[in-house]
Amino acid sequence: AGEPLSPHDVAVAAERRWSYIVGAVIALLVVMMIVTGLHWASMPPSRVETVDVKTLHLKGEFVEGNLGTVLEPDGRVVVRLVAQQYSFVPQCIVVPAGMPVTFRGTAVDAIHGFVVGTTNANTMLVPGFVATFTTRFRQPGEHLMPCHEYCGTGHEAMWARVQVWP
Ligand code: CUA
Repeated sequence: AGEPLSPHDVAVAAERRWSYIVGAVIALLVVMMIVTGLHWASMPPSRVETVDVKTLHLKGEFVEGNLGTVLEPDGRVVVRLVAQQYSFVPQCIVVPAGMPVTFRGTAVDAIHGFVVGTTNANTMLVPGFVATFTTRFRQPGEHLMPCHEYCGTGHEAMWARVQVWP
């Protein structure tokens, strides 16, 4: 003790210090990967349902003749819609007041979204994914339904109309 450290001892101490720092950085990255993985694993199922953009208009649920409001055999009211630059199909959606209405929508070209007036009906529409939610319109009336995700030069002119019938 009391003897001056040799250059070798100094180098060993420095290397040990740096190995602790590198170990801490690796541990931090591993924790970040685990936390991010758990976060995505716990996302709601609306992000998981996928649809093929290339065949969307040719076959399956979102062909043009199948869009709009239908009363399903099991009694549910379902609205299917597609967003594209720069319109919604259909342009006018009629729904009944006071009962649950399920929206199912997707987008063909860019990320779009919509909100129905001042109600809580609000979602993003992402190409390749089916967005779905169920809501209830309490009051009869008419709402504007604008696209609320910037989707290009025609974004501000992209909107539809929702009529809530008594
Ligand atoms: Cu579609 Cu903005």
